[in-house]
Amino acid sequence: MNNFIKTAIACLALSSFTAYGQGAKKGEVITQLTNPKGWIIQTKSSAYQLNVSSVNSIRPVFYGSREQAEQAARTNSQWFEGIEEVPVRGSFPFKTPALEVIFNDNVRDADLVYVKGEVITVEGRSTLKITQKDKFYPLEVTSYIRVLPEYDILEKWMVVKNTGTKGDIKIENAQSGSIVLPADEYMLTHLAGKQMNEFQQQQTLLTPGLKVIQNKAFKANFNPPWFMVRPQNAAKETGPAWFGSLHYSGNWQLAFDKSIEGNVQILGGINFWDSSWLLTPGASFETPKLSVGYTNDGPDGAAQSLTAYARETVLPEKHRKQMRPVLYNSWEATFYAVNEEQQLELAKRAKDIGIELFVIDDGWFKGRTSATTGLGDWEVDKTKFPNGLGSMIKKINDMGMDFGIWVEPESLVPASEVYKAHPDWVFDMPPNRTLPITRRYLNLAKEEVYQHLLAVLSKLLAENNIKFIKWDQNSYLSETGWKNAPVEIQREVRIRFMKNVYRLVEELRKRFPDVLFESCASGGGRVDLGMLSRMDQAWVSDNTSPLDRIYMQYGYTWALPANTMVSWVTGNGNHQPTSLDYKFDVSMAGVLAVGDDLRKWTPEDMAVAAKKIAEYKVIRPLIQQGKVYHLVSPFEENRSALQYQDATTKSVVMCYNMAEYLPGSQYGSRSANTLKLKGLKADESYSVQNIEDRDKPGATYKGDYLMNVGIAWPVKGANKGQILLVNPQGK
Ligand code: DGJ
Repeated sequence: MNNFIKTAIACLALSSFTAYGQGAKKGEVITQLTNPKGWIIQTKSSAYQLNVSSVNSIRPVFYGSREQAEQAARTNSQWFEGIEEVPVRGSFPFKTPALEVIFNDNVRDADLVYVKGEVITVEGRSTLKITQKDKFYPLEVTSYIRVLPEYDILEKWMVVKNTGTKGDIKIENAQSGSIVLPADEYMLTHLAGKQMNEFQQQQTLLTPGLKVIQNKAFKANFNPPWFMVRPQNAAKETGPAWFGSLHYSGNWQLAFDKSIEGNVQILGGINFWDSSWLLTPGASFETPKLSVGYTNDGPDGAAQSLTAYARETVLPEKHRKQMRPVLYNSWEATFYAVNEEQQLELAKRAKDIGIELFVIDDGWFKGRTSATTGLGDWEVDKTKFPNGLGSMIKKINDMGMDFGIWVEPESLVPASEVYKAHPDWVFDMPPNRTLPITRRYLNLAKEEVYQHLLAVLSKLLAENNIKFIKWDQNSYLSETGWKNAPVEIQREVRIRFMKNVYRLVEELRKRFPDVLFESCASGGGRVDLGMLSRMDQAWVSDNTSPLDRIYMQYGYTWALPANTMVSWVTGNGNHQPTSLDYKFDVSMAGVLAVGDDLRKWTPEDMAVAAKKIAEYKVIRPLIQQGKVYHLVSPFEENRSALQYQDATTKSVVMCYNMAEYLPGSQYGSRSANTLKLKGLKADESYSVQNIEDRDKPGATYKGDYLMNVGIAWPVKGANKGQILLVNPQGK
């Protein structure tokens, strides 16, 4: 179904909404109000109301459930007062500003008044465009709210413009958007991580004051900029949830400012720490998008809305519906010591177990013998591949697999030829400071660096039949000197760098539309909706221990769709005491891949792999396109379960024990030994069977029973998994 038809269906569904308050019309996504002047934005479950105040400022007055919005309209109550839609530095400081500017005469206060509000269409979606301007200075602020009603999502962003003819305006902070929650006690859930331990779920009570989660090291920080906020007394699995995610891969921030009255203001955008942006006359600055949402359906409702939105509208359109291939990556098998013969031997074995895409990682390019050599010289190493890459790729294609390759375009090492030829292309180290000796960052803010990377990467892709790029980025931005740039724009360097990373990927995609891209940064260091609107999938972690992956995957799937979550089976014989079967069971919950030295695998290992990969291909559409339910949390118990479901309620359930899960009431409550499913039809009969027994008839249960009573927890013993198929049978 194309997006236009989908939008039309969503609008039809909306026509059953009750109209309420001050003339909001049935079926309208954005309704203009006249008394007082304002707008109501309606999605499937939420309503967002903005008014133009008597002093011509834009005030959000409500954001929550449609039912409560109706009630608020009936009683004429406002949920919050005094906070503007675009809070600025200036006037009373009882809020966190979304915009901080300095005018040419050093005045640091902005004072915005409403100019106009229009409902426009942006990429097929109703969008509220509100223009405000400063009362005195030539500053125009346009804020956008693009509505995706069927996902309960609003996309917010802002364009800040210097409309004058002389005099610059300096932006010291421009956030993408802000929302305000009604007074209550709230729990914040977010993710935090580090290399080898990404996407860890965190929960905290928001108390009065400012809580900021942010990144200054120039990657997504091993977790995406994502949040979910719920009333502290909400039921665990249902009820209100506000959630959101920022589309940005450089330094980002999410701020939660709770007043003593209990309202919570949530802001998200670029982290302007050590950054600024100069607006010369006529120039404008556009922020990245912040997607926010509200649902009545609890944490899984929030996860399902956000991940469906990302999967169906954010991921690069060309490959959105395509099943992600089962890939093999040879990094852990051969590290830097690669050659054609050995890669072909691995490819042959990969083909035997059902792999669809063969990927060569780091080590294939000129002079790359260790972490300190070669990086930056993106030409094949003729000592390792005397025939170039072409002959190897052809043989791999002839085996029936596509070929993919690793690059790390943004970095180089001082020992590279490119560095020797262009030492001025890297960031400048401030004088009197010590240079790092390994990786250096190319200063992509420079146009010639951008053009160089575009040329070498285009050449690589044009000359070779490459169908997949793993795009890595392996260091933190430690120095950001840009000494030849005018002083007033030197602190723009981080933002300009990121703009050109995005521009580079976009241009390569345009030139090579069939190539799949994977985002990697020392594991899952750069995974967010900004990157995933340009890259199709992401490498989650260099830690492939299934026990650790269970936690990461549970965290990841709150915020991001499973068809982007790449998980290799590797370290066969390591990660004791886990088995190869268990590793596969865990990796099968996302985009299954293999990354081990297949030359060392026994015939029994190969048989396990072939069987598991065949099973994965059966459940792949459900995993990669289905909606997710988080059934049992590894953060709460020593077991875990995720359920993926399609529109017919057909499901697959991934169940894992992380330790011995003791049955019986002596050691745990009986209820803890059951598995309850979600989202089924109560009256429908379902067959439930282990995936290995999929050709035999399964046990039959009513949906009601499976959801409310549950079946016995199917996994026996420590570090074991079970994959259950749940198929509707008709009533
Ligand atoms: C870090 C990545 O996370 C690994 O998977 C691998 O690609 C190495 N870089 C290669 O240098």
